[in-house]
Amino acid sequence: MQPTPLMSVAAQPLTGQVRVPGDKSISHRALMFGALAIGESTVEGLLEGEDVLRTAEAMRRLGAEVVRRPDGTWVLHGRGVGGLAEPDDVLDMGNAGTGARLLMGLVATHPFTSIFTGDASLRSRPMKRVSEPLSRMGAGFVGRSGGRLPMAVIGTASPIPLTYELPVPSAQVKSAVLLAGLNTPGSTTVIEHEATRDHTELMLRGFGADVRVESLAQGGRAITLIGQPELIGRAVVVPADPSSAAFPVVAALLVRDSVVTLTNVGTNPLRCGLFQTLKEMGADIEWTNVRDEAGEPVADLVVRFSELKGIDVPAERAPSMIDEYPILAVAAAFAKGTTRMRGLSELRVKESDRLAAVARGLAACGVRLEIEGDDLIVHGDGHRPEGGATIAVNLDHRIGMAFLVMGMASARPVKIDDGAAIDTSFPGFAALMNGLGARITEAKD
Ligand code: S3P
Repeated sequence: MQPTPLMSVAAQPLTGQVRVPGDKSISHRALMFGALAIGESTVEGLLEGEDVLRTAEAMRRLGAEVVRRPDGTWVLHGRGVGGLAEPDDVLDMGNAGTGARLLMGLVATHPFTSIFTGDASLRSRPMKRVSEPLSRMGAGFVGRSGGRLPMAVIGTASPIPLTYELPVPSAQVKSAVLLAGLNTPGSTTVIEHEATRDHTELMLRGFGADVRVESLAQGGRAITLIGQPELIGRAVVVPADPSSAAFPVVAALLVRDSVVTLTNVGTNPLRCGLFQTLKEMGADIEWTNVRDEAGEPVADLVVRFSELKGIDVPAERAPSMIDEYPILAVAAAFAKGTTRMRGLSELRVKESDRLAAVARGLAACGVRLEIEGDDLIVHGDGHRPEGGATIAVNLDHRIGMAFLVMGMASARPVKIDDGAAIDTSFPGFAALMNGLGARITEAKD
């Protein structure tokens, strides 16, 4: 496919009220659990981005009925826990690490073989982090060197329950093990030293599973799933994705005279590290209309232009804002003073090496920064950075969006070499931002 280069030039003050697309993490899980439940499930507000559509297709290949109604509601008829069928072709998960890793867990305890692949980004990402615990439960794996896709998962007919201590703070690994535990007799436990997003636990409970969460004396949590539950179809309402809201939020903070309202944003505390960090930097972000929607907290966010200051962001906060560092680094470039973002090793294994990509991109835009070990240190002088660079996206949607936001407030326009990847998580990004006052156009050289 031809790349779509995009350019972002200085924005008008951003004003208006918008709802960003549905939460990616919750959307993947809603399709997977609906495909396992007995009876009908409906999903409202599903993210219809590339990543999630791949999961919908995979669930069909595994035997579930998955239909999109003309009104935008998705309707599923599931197969029951343990009832998935062998897929008749390779499961191509596109760009989606969440789709691939969670599904590998799910099929690991079904007695058939499934073969997973993805795009160049996903095929370069480490899968040993899931194949290792899933092997202990009895599944077999045949993959490329370094445990990379394409990979065959040889599911086991006699799964062994596992107690697994996460070596990295990863909700995907936690979820893969718990989902393998669904079709395993007895209880499966995951111990995490730092709490990661808990959408799997919350939603599995909503579908009727017995999931127990215990806080550990030494910190962290033990999450136990009682195997072979009967999941019952239900209605899921997907909140707007806080990781997508992050882009218009930071844009409004950086572009003078902006006031933007974002409605129905998911405010699960394990996802809200960015908002807390921005507030510490001096951001004017008001939460209104705080409420609960189908088991997840949501609020409307009112964001106003703010003068930001540099701060120290502790490593413990990383799991609650792991996808938000690219856009936080952009905000830090406009702040007065130094922002140190600690403990970013996991950023190196996302859709791209985000630590390297952010550092390269900011430097090209005239921002002073260093990487020290796993810390990113950005020096702002309170003036807008120069901009004027073309950023290589390398199939990473969040790198693309972060640098388009940079172009809205920097002295010179910022270009990205390909905007296509943005559709994986935020279809309609340019149109939504332009509706608020941004000026993102196709870049013609
Ligand atoms: C996700 C977990 C995180 C995050 C990803 C979505 C999930 O990945 O970066 O975008 O839905 O569980 P890790 O588990 O690798 O931290």
